[in-house]
Amino acid sequence: MGDLGKGYKLVFLGDQGVGKTSIITCFMYGKFDTSYQATIGIDFLSKTTRYEDRTFRLQLWDTAGQERFKSLVPSYIRDSSVAVIVYDVASKQSFINTSKWIEEVRAERGSYVIIVLVGNKTDLVNKRQVSIEEGENKAREFGALFMETSAKAGFNIKPLFCKITSALQGNEAVSWTKQEDLVDVNLKPLMFSSQANHQQES
Ligand code: GTP
Repeated sequence: MGDLGKGYKLVFLGDQGVGKTSIITCFMYGKFDTSYQATIGIDFLSKTTRYEDRTFRLQLWDTAGQERFKSLVPSYIRDSSVAVIVYDVASKQSFINTSKWIEEVRAERGSYVIIVLVGNKTDLVNKRQVSIEEGENKAREFGALFMETSAKAGFNIKPLFCKITSALQGNEAVSWTKQEDLVDVNLKPLMFSSQANHQQES
């Protein structure tokens, strides 16, 4: 059996179409899909990952960016350890909109949460509307971690999750959930990426 590790809930927030599902899919399966399927309500996935000899059980809650699902989100923020707030570097509006998510998460969870601001779609080089400095400045202003990614290019996806587990490891104030309390409900079939270094369990 061995050490099952601590379980942490991660909630993904951000505008419609910024790439929340794609980041999760890239991390879980090492895959990218160009077709867009809006998330309906909330999706849930779980993954066990190792960082510096410790096991972390991550529950990934993928929220829908569409306005009509907004009312569902606060209840997911309430008991999460990490909020990953995503914008599209090619959409200024999606960047502006991250502020209200950060404020909402801070209001609900105070310092008992790790906030990660993520600028996705860096592969859209010629369409970029938000500079890396703007992203960094906003993250600093709100006491959040920062990362730019491209789910399409598979850029910085693994480092993003390493950064998260590293921050969890160093922050005992962040709440975690006992294994018994973590319900395993994988809604999607689990596939393994041949390149994945991370151990994956159902
Ligand atoms: P909602 O579920 O509606 O909130 O959207 P989402 O934030 O989960 O976005 P999703 O992952 O579904 O991606 C939306 C679209 O953007 C899809 O067509 C993806 O293929 C595309 N996309 C996601 N990530 C990237 C990226 O890094 N680069 C590029 N070029 N396209 C991306």
